[in-house]
Amino acid sequence: MKFGFASALLFKEQLFKGVAMQMQFFLNAKQVKVDAEEGVPLLWLLRDDLKSTGTKYGCGMGLCGACTVHIDGKAARACMTPASAVSGKRVTTIEGLSANNNHPVQRAWQQLDVPQCGYCQSGQIMGAASLLRSKPNPTDAEIAETMNGHLCRCATYGRIEKAVKLAVKLNRGQS
Ligand code: FES
Ligand code: FES
Repeated sequence: MKFGFASALLFKEQLFKGVAMQMQFFLNAKQVKVDAEEGVPLLWLLRDDLKSTGTKYGCGMGLCGACTVHIDGKAARACMTPASAVSGKRVTTIEGLSANNNHPVQRAWQQLDVPQCGYCQSGQIMGAASLLRSKPNPTDAEIAETMNGHLCRCATYGRIEKAVKLAVKLNRGQS
């Protein structure tokens, strides 16, 4: 049996028909109040209810990194995070990473023209941005460890690695 995107949506409809609870959190620095069904993953709340579609659905199992967002500044897989877990917290998506797409990671991505189809790239960028925040001077091994958790079907891995290293320099004001 094929398990594609349509199947995943059907699965979601059947799985998360439950009790709705009202919650509030900060999405890209704006307070939002929403009704979230019990157990619904943050990814679906973001995409379906809040129309924040820059965060992508890839595997739905925490394996690909396409859904990476920041929760209180740390990278998290939105497909594996229950929406209820972000109550009162600060969630940042690719739409809110910077005011003018000028975060050092975004500038590096643009300079090196990293994306191919682009589907995985918001997750890649959010993962790299979280790394720079926690480790402004990451070692090659730390970069590899972080970015290995982000899959790219277009195999842009070489450009991603170069872009993360460029972002480190841009972050230091060196380029
Ligand atoms: S969609 Fe969340 S890790 Fe793949
Ligand atoms: S750029 Fe196409 S999946 Fe990564």
